Amino acid sequence: MAKLSPSILSANFYKLGENIESALNSGADWMHIDVMDGHFVPQLSFGSKIVADIKKQNNCFCDVHLMVTNPADHIIPFVKANADLINFHYEAAIHGDRLIAQIKENNKLAGITINPTTPVSVLEHYLPLVDLILIMSVNPGFSGQKCIEYTFKKIEELNNLRQKNNYKYLIQIDGGIQLANVEKVLKIGTDVIVAGSGFFDVSPEDKKKFVDLIHSY
Ligand code: DX5
Ligand code: ZN
Repeated sequence: MAKLSPSILSANFYKLGENIESALNSGADWMHIDVMDGHFVPQLSFGSKIVADIKKQNNCFCDVHLMVTNPADHIIPFVKANADLINFHYEAAIHGDRLIAQIKENNKLAGITINPTTPVSVLEHYLPLVDLILIMSVNPGFSGQKCIEYTFKKIEELNNLRQKNNYKYLIQIDGGIQLANVEKVLKIGTDVIVAGSGFFDVSPEDKKKFVDLIHSY
């Protein structure tokens, strides 16, 4: 079964706890936590305290997407906050192998992300090491952008490489995914769907259709 990881960037921060509980009650499997530093991407969002506070109240799976220039500075704070999966950008990591080892030594799942124009080929040595690979289908930094569909080819490529080599990573997509296009990416092997506006800003009927479709794969 594919999983849904709603991005809390599209939640109402004034009602964050309520929004998270309601997302989980609607069938969300994970919660996607977008960490932005104002350097790697233009916007600022929040740091590790948000995860610590969420995990104290609700033991939901926190899927942390670090959109930061210095991921090495942020691994331990998110480990201490009890994040479940820590995911950094290939484009920001100088010593990626070391970061993955550090995440795994702390018994967390490790993920790596690539931007729309970054090819899968650069991940060759990461493929056997990581638990999850995130394909960005928008340029990171904002919710509510239009999906860039040429990125779907990279999902097919990762799915083929996984079958051929028996790799264990999950494939995740993030950016502009909604009811109208989610089936396209589920069909080609995506395991985890991130959705901000396509989940939080839709009617209850469309939300249910979206969740049911994801869980039917
Ligand atoms: C964008 C973030 C995404 C974003 C998704 O840089 O990484 O997780 O919140 O929002 P939508 O689904 O609206 O594109
Ligand atoms: Zn994200």
